[in-house]
Amino acid sequence: MLFLVGHTPYRGFLWRSGLTAILLLPVLSPLPGGLAQGVTLTIACSAVGIEYRLCREGAQAWAEASGHSVRLIQSPNLSNDRLGLYQQMLAARSSEVDVFQIDIIWPGILGAHFIDLRPYLPTGETGAHFPAIIRANTVAGELKALPWYTDVGLLFFRKDLLKKYGRETPRTWTELDAAAAHIVREERKSGNNRLYGFVFQAKSYEGLTCNALEWIASFGGGRILSPDGKIALNNPRTVKALNTAASWIGSIAPRGVLTYAEEEARGVFQSGRAVFMRNWPYAWSLSQAPDSPVKGKVGVAPLPGGGKQGARVGTLGGWNLAVSKYSRHPRLAAALALHLTSSREQTRRAIAGAYNPTRPAVYRDPKVLAANPFFAFLPAILANAVSRPSEVAGVKYNRVSSIFWEAVHDVLSGRDTAETALEAAERRLRRISRDGRW
Ligand code: GLC
Repeated sequence: MLFLVGHTPYRGFLWRSGLTAILLLPVLSPLPGGLAQGVTLTIACSAVGIEYRLCREGAQAWAEASGHSVRLIQSPNLSNDRLGLYQQMLAARSSEVDVFQIDIIWPGILGAHFIDLRPYLPTGETGAHFPAIIRANTVAGELKALPWYTDVGLLFFRKDLLKKYGRETPRTWTELDAAAAHIVREERKSGNNRLYGFVFQAKSYEGLTCNALEWIASFGGGRILSPDGKIALNNPRTVKALNTAASWIGSIAPRGVLTYAEEEARGVFQSGRAVFMRNWPYAWSLSQAPDSPVKGKVGVAPLPGGGKQGARVGTLGGWNLAVSKYSRHPRLAAALALHLTSSREQTRRAIAGAYNPTRPAVYRDPKVLAANPFFAFLPAILANAVSRPSEVAGVKYNRVSSIFWEAVHDVLSGRDTAETALEAAERRLRRISRDGRW
């Protein structure tokens, strides 16, 4: 296998933004003179957890089978940073990247820069994925991206510690708070001073929007914009949800959680320093790695509800593959995206990294279930998931989300009360709306 790793010395965005790139050459079919046959495609993939490795292996397999080459570029870890970079590239109609890994909330923002993939699909392809994910990737009847993996917020917990202290898996936030506080207190008595109760993502970024929507939905407080286009934010249930979360900071959660994204929370939990963690499914596979200090000690459950009747919901996330309109090789780029999102690839990624298939059939594969026992209840959690209001907000989604996450961060950090922060956020939302409507 031929790998060229390092900074690619070519002009353009990648070079200026200092992103690393890696070139995957096909093993077979060299042309006389040692040059690779065919074209070189570039794909932008994430490097959170083991994603980059999985992307590289999938792309390598396609390169070997097709005789073409694939160059990978590593995109920033935070979803909104990634969006900013993609927006610059696409606004400049740059042909540097052929295939983009895009967030489920972006088809409305970036869709105009992507080709309609429908003409490139084999018969029955869209029907093999969860219909809601195909819908989310469809803009004005055009399929802007192929579903790669789906995501939903989950509660990870230390089975061993819950058992030691006779606690059940919490069904409400109150139960979680009480169990976390009790276990941390008792562990401290025996000298375990480095244990926290609960870690999650409370940095000021898109991940906080996901976490906060879960708290709010669990109390029945809506989802920022209602499906019929009204602002639905400042209400007593949302206030209650945010006050509940704010009460965890500096109590069951370290103050540092205000700067945590996914990987920071996972780092703390995986090193054995938290009883509970909110994260996406990928955290499971890494927590079960041979060198993980918490291997065999982790349980997975739906997130707690806001009160006994409260909904136990996770936010819907996930990533998809889109082909740039500025690609010089759209047909080949679509073929690469089809390969990476195929049933075989989704099965491999599910087993190796707990990346959630977007194809319901893969959840029935015994090998997938053996690697991820919690996948058995995942389709039900996915069916119940709360989605962000990206379809309603369209091109303005990122502005809506940043207004929201900034307000939530102010409440969590104690800079503002929930009431005034939400009131101000509603005013800002109104200003960027059409007379309060979306
Ligand atoms: C995960 C989700 C994605 C979300 C992001 C926020 O990657 O799949 O949809 O936007 O987390 O941090």
